[in-house]
Amino acid sequence: MLKLAQHDKIMTLQERDKKHLWHPLKQHQLHPDSLAIVKAKGCILTDEHGNEYIDAISSWYTCMFGHCNDFITNRVYQQMQQLDQVMFSDFTHEPAVKLSEELIKILPKNQNRIFFNDNGSTAVEAGIKMALQYYFNKEQKRTTFIAFENGFHGDTFGAMSVSGLSVYNGPFEDFLIEVKRIPVPNGENHKEILNQLTAYANQYKIAGFIYEPIIQGAAGMKIHNAAGLNEILALCKSKKILTIADEVMTGFGKTGSHFASDFVETKPDIICLSKALTAGLVPMAITSCTEEIYEAFLSNDMAKGFFHCHTYSANPIACSAAIAAVELLQTSEIQDRIKEISRAHKKFEKHIDAHPIVRSTRSQGVIFALDLDTKMERYGDLRDKLLKFFMSRGVFLRPLGNTIYIQVPFVINNIELQKVYDTIEEALDTF
Ligand SMILES: Cc1ncc(COP(=O)(O)O)c(C=O)c1O
Repeated sequence: MLKLAQHDKIMTLQERDKKHLWHPLKQHQLHPDSLAIVKAKGCILTDEHGNEYIDAISSWYTCMFGHCNDFITNRVYQQMQQLDQVMFSDFTHEPAVKLSEELIKILPKNQNRIFFNDNGSTAVEAGIKMALQYYFNKEQKRTTFIAFENGFHGDTFGAMSVSGLSVYNGPFEDFLIEVKRIPVPNGENHKEILNQLTAYANQYKIAGFIYEPIIQGAAGMKIHNAAGLNEILALCKSKKILTIADEVMTGFGKTGSHFASDFVETKPDIICLSKALTAGLVPMAITSCTEEIYEAFLSNDMAKGFFHCHTYSANPIACSAAIAAVELLQTSEIQDRIKEISRAHKKFEKHIDAHPIVRSTRSQGVIFALDLDTKMERYGDLRDKLLKFFMSRGVFLRPLGNTIYIQVPFVINNIELQKVYDTIEEALDTF
């Protein structure tokens, strides 16, 4: 019998990981270990020792129909046998065409063009470039952006520029494009925001305003005022500032509507989509826009075209996953479940609101968040202890600073959801 080398016999995945891998958002010197997950089904993640965890944040807001969803994996399997990959420059294919048709039916009515990208950051990057080149093509110099304070839009340079300053983009501050920041509307401050915006519009050549509509995800699932946002968007329109809704986190049903922009009367010129677009199965992103934006790139001059491309743009397999996800999203089963989870969150919010260490609570659709009445570093000791506590109880929750938030898959059952609530309550009583 072949003898295994000593290290092959005893090394776990977690140990092998440490030899060659470099993980994102990690200080490896302080946190060398990464939990090895070997299986995911529905809402359950299973680690290499057989421990199970409820994925209460849908693996960063992606697998909203549960992991390895049979309906989606079957569609992808069929597509894999038909057409795997072909360049999207010069070619087209049924999955891309079909997905564009299905998305245009559910996106805000002013959207008419679908541009493919690889991930949330590049969806934003393309949105920023569209706005800049829109004015370049019109031979107008507009190079500055407006963004909300504490927004997060991704890790490429344009996306880092419009994100609020943090450990993510701090080291690159000198290389970012010019961005002016305004506070999010809270129901009381919209007059000051409009004044500030007007002053910026008078002083700088503003190309676009980028925003996470209704909920700022990475900032701690912070919810802002839809009417106030509407006034900001209306003012932008009047100043010909292009509006870019970053729905990478909020898109596809999580807020209780297909898109967070549905809650705001004034519609964006450009929308960035990713994450739940492909239901967590494969990476893909889309930047949609109005016909008016698209038309600004039509010319006999080649250089006025949009020369932005990724090798895997509109990958047919990713498109097939997205078509299946968009179909599932519109079923009455999923729509009912979103309403039930939303009601359950409201009930939990009421129940937990008066807890002595809870400063505030909020929820919208399947998103719930509470702020602890304590100062906590984003990646500090208390946050690590909380994370460990949740995992030891079989629930994967990942606090953002002093915010504990839930963003469960739509398919979570009531027992699993109750376990998530109970575990949070136990944590509040323990810490
Ligand atoms: C609102 C928003 N925009 C953009 C991104 C970046 O997406 P990705 O991580 O796929 O690049 C994120 C990621 O969390 C996000 O929440």
